[in-house]
Amino acid sequence: MTDVTSADEPGTDYVYFDTAAAAPPVREAVDAAVEYLRKTGDVGPYLPRFRSEIYTRLEEIRSETATLFQATPEEIAFTRNGTEAICLVARGLRWNEGDEIIVPDTEMLSNVAIWRMLEQDVGVTVVTVEAGATGVLDPEAIAEAITDRTRLVTFASLSNVTGVVQPVRDICEVAASHGVLTHVDAAQSLGIVPLGFDDWHCDFISACTRKGLRGIEGSGVLAVRSALTDQLRPTLAGWWNTQIDPGTGDVTVPPTARRLEAGSPNVPAILALGGAVEAVRKTGIDHIHQTVRELTDYAAGRLRALGEVDIYGPEDDSRRLGIIPFNLRGVDPDHLTTSLEDRGIIIESGHFMAGPILAEYGIEKMARISLNYFNTRQEIDRFIDAVSTRKDHAR
Ligand SMILES: Cc1ncc(COP(=O)(O)O)c(C=O)c1O
Repeated sequence: MTDVTSADEPGTDYVYFDTAAAAPPVREAVDAAVEYLRKTGDVGPYLPRFRSEIYTRLEEIRSETATLFQATPEEIAFTRNGTEAICLVARGLRWNEGDEIIVPDTEMLSNVAIWRMLEQDVGVTVVTVEAGATGVLDPEAIAEAITDRTRLVTFASLSNVTGVVQPVRDICEVAASHGVLTHVDAAQSLGIVPLGFDDWHCDFISACTRKGLRGIEGSGVLAVRSALTDQLRPTLAGWWNTQIDPGTGDVTVPPTARRLEAGSPNVPAILALGGAVEAVRKTGIDHIHQTVRELTDYAAGRLRALGEVDIYGPEDDSRRLGIIPFNLRGVDPDHLTTSLEDRGIIIESGHFMAGPILAEYGIEKMARISLNYFNTRQEIDRFIDAVSTRKDHAR
């Protein structure tokens, strides 16, 4: 059995299929944050020896996190969330008017808004590459969109809408062959898929830790290739990441990705990240990946077999991982979500900023399930039974 049953997990009898929003944090993550908060309540956060132990632990966690990104500790910055990590790249690079940034039509708001703001602020041009209704990006289409003004390609490795696993390495290699930088948004991949600089050949990787990785909210990571650290100017500056020369007043920042962290670190969230990384190490990223792969195939197969269900994105389920958007014909997805919640099954519905897919199918919303390794086939069966009952009521 590859499944880790939910019975092994703390919590309730809920079937939780919303990892793409945020997964239940692993016990190691919760314990690390709670123990810290309790201790700060008991002895105060700044007891000198305690404080020094905590800062040492944060640097250990930086090293442990680096292994998940096939990076060095110097290449890792802790951020408040995935969005902040993306913005630190966008605001940190120096742009010239007319620079072009390729943003495919597969992206969610956090990997669109900041690039659009740069258009207004510094006169760059956002170039959209279409993936179309399947949501699968074609490296050739990226190659065709590259001009001598292109500076960066930014895209998500795993779509939060369709679950498509993009050909990340091919895209990054195409970009690099033209001297173009790449930022990969790994918000949906981290903790589910083996990834990193060696596998992807990209320049920046951003992620949040509350989804596949099962850290807690308010925590993200940015991995910056060491050769590019100097090119990334800190957007935020303060006591944690700068020094001022008392004579000249010159501000200096560290030569590592830590330069991007300003002010007091979000200690509970980083300690929780350490717990989550440890849990992945114990469970094994390959095992997690394989389990989510099997569950995805099983869930998609059972949903398709129901009939009167539209599944969006690629028809070939091996192109997606963990995330399945669908609609039950004749049933409002919001109503479906509520009726499933009444039966203890948590899914999500919305438009997920999936313009091309919504347009292709002439719909305004869809339902989405997203799986993690703690889910089981039995839970999928329970979900299918509930959807099937809802389908019969819709007749
Ligand atoms: C693909 C993708 N990128 C970025 C983000 C933003 O992450 P955060 O919510 O941590 O800012 C999300 C989260 O919803 C996401 O799904």
